Amino acid sequence: MKLLEVQSSVRLEQSISRTLSHEFIQTWQNFHADGRYKQRDVGMNPPAHPTELWTVANYIPPDSRTPDMKTVLADSEQLIEELLWADRLLLGVPMYNFSVPSTFKVYVDNIVRVNRTFTFDPTSFTFEGLAINKKALVITPSAGNFAPNTPMGSMNFCETYLRSILGFIGIEDITIIAVPNQFMPDEIRRQSIEQARVKLMMIAATW
Ligand SMILES: Cc1cc2nc3c(=O)[nH]c(=O)nc-3n(C[C@H](O)[C@H](O)[C@H](O)COP(=O)(O)O)c2cc1C
Repeated sequence: MKLLEVQSSVRLEQSISRTLSHEFIQTWQNFHADGRYKQRDVGMNPPAHPTELWTVANYIPPDSRTPDMKTVLADSEQLIEELLWADRLLLGVPMYNFSVPSTFKVYVDNIVRVNRTFTFDPTSFTFEGLAINKKALVITPSAGNFAPNTPMGSMNFCETYLRSILGFIGIEDITIIAVPNQFMPDEIRRQSIEQARVKLMMIAATW
């Protein structure tokens, strides 16, 4: 089993998503002695934004790309290779302004590419994901509470976006562990972390 961890919080020591991810991976490794593991930290080292040359290179066949085009796509190719390598994706994606952090969005812009992670049939105008046979587990802390049926529930573009974009590239088995209420009084804040921790430890044993 091959696990890729992607972290996108801009915080390190204080990050809830990083702390819970770290605990999850330790437990996962205890249960998967022969499991393989890689980490990608787009919070600390975000990939470059696509450029005009990048988009030209992206939409032409690989054999027709110039050396400059190959160079501009090199980081994206590496990110896609490690994504396709993984059977399991652990994503640390806090809610930033009701959606995902820009560090995660630029990661998405680099990995969602035609003929690499999805195909497009112009005749039927249909898309098909190529990143198949994977499971994703996402840890999403937030200051407030964005559960369905709460006053702010309709503003949770983080979860809806994650489900849409992962599904688009073929990842259908998605578990999202929200860690809400992180700006609430300490007891409520800690209780939320503890509830997420319990869920994560149960998943780590069988995932
Ligand atoms: C730029 C920025 C925007 C944020 N926007 C929201 C938001 O829209 N809703 C919310 O509930 N929390 C928001 N937060 C709070 C974070 O979701 C919260 O602090 C979370 O714990 C961060 O994840 P981390 O602990 O893994 O770093 C924001 C934080 C930052 C830095």
